[in-house]
Amino acid sequence: MAALALEARKRAHAPYSRFKVGAALKTRGGEIVTGCNIENASFGLTLCAERVAVFKALSEGLSDFDAIVVAADSRRITAPCGPCRQILWEFCGDLVVHMVNPRGATRTWRLGRLIPLPFDGKNL
Ligand code: THU
Repeated sequence: MAALALEARKRAHAPYSRFKVGAALKTRGGEIVTGCNIENASFGLTLCAERVAVFKALSEGLSDFDAIVVAADSRRITAPCGPCRQILWEFCGDLVVHMVNPRGATRTWRLGRLIPLPFDGKNL
């Protein structure tokens, strides 16, 4: 999965930030869907790699996700941004989040630790 996320990262469209991110999202059944960040000149329309992977997977009819790998190249390992944590929580629940960089550094946190006290359908 890390290799797939790093490969997806190469397909990032990030001419504005030059910060490329890849993601690989896995279902419990073993299917893997990748994503990369796709930026836009209007900045605000940028899509993060994680959300691209989630929405690709959902649109293919996949569900029941248990892990995601996020691949980026930064000195401090890159965790999903706040909006991505919210989207991942909505569609994936407390999945395992592996964060990797191209030099082999890794860190693993559960999403519930990244988004404590989440707002979700149970609040409504
Ligand atoms: N980005 C992601 O794709 N995922 C993250 O978890 C952090 C940020 C992207 C958005 C933007 O294209 C670039 O990284 C810089 O913020």
